Amino acid sequence: MLRDNTTTMANQNEKELAGRAAAELVVSGNIVGLGTGSTAYFAVVALGERVKSGLKIIGIPTSVTTAELARAVGIQLATLDEHTEIDITIDGADEIDSQLRLIKGGGGALLREKIIAAASKKMVVVADSSKLVPALGKFPLPVEIIPLARAVLERKITALGASCKLRTRPDGQPFITDEGHHILDCRFGRIADPPALALVLSDMPGVVEHGLFIGIAKLALVGMGSSVVEIRPKRPRSKAVRAKRPRRKGVEHKRKSQKRR
Ligand code: 5RP
Repeated sequence: MLRDNTTTMANQNEKELAGRAAAELVVSGNIVGLGTGSTAYFAVVALGERVKSGLKIIGIPTSVTTAELARAVGIQLATLDEHTEIDITIDGADEIDSQLRLIKGGGGALLREKIIAAASKKMVVVADSSKLVPALGKFPLPVEIIPLARAVLERKITALGASCKLRTRPDGQPFITDEGHHILDCRFGRIADPPALALVLSDMPGVVEHGLFIGIAKLALVGMGSSVVEIRPKRPRSKAVRAKRPRRKGVEHKRKSQKRR
């Protein structure tokens, strides 16, 4: 129990360091996407402090909860209708791999989060070190769905090898997202090919959005102990094996003979 608490405190510190570091990247005049969750919370609070000291920004919140927090700390808010392009979005993640592919949606805000991240010139992920993983999939992938399609989608996603669970509230009723949908938490285990899975899920009628964020984040600020580490996407190792060039005896011979001359 004590060990768990200690771990939680350490993670909290790392989250705060990461959130605050990301808030420093924002400059006056920026339209800022405000993420959701316990790490993005620290970024919003830090931005509120900077606003009180004169920073001029407009925030686009990724959830009702974040909108309330942003208002409480004095950040002026606007909608995507008013600003279709966002300068920088700061948001958390549930898992981050070395290519900065993410699983998001643990807090249930993945749909607005993805729309806002995709409308941003830059998305900065903030996280504690526990979120870095060698491969995505240990965290159940949140899939936002139309309630009518629940049983059909459970069957289809289960057939892909996952076990699915409808997300519920503490009172046992289905969790309802800010956009009025349900969430299936889909436990895949190691996801071998995240882009392929993303395509398959997006193609299923009834899936509104899924929590795989691929090619969206270009920078992660990760709290590690008492410092913050910057992580940029690592290029995947090419699978193409260079074909061994066949030895062409004639050419070899010619070169040798040219040398001799
Ligand atoms: C909300 C999210 C969060 O960013 C994600 O769940 C990480 O949350 P936290 O910073 O609390 O660990 O995707 O939908």
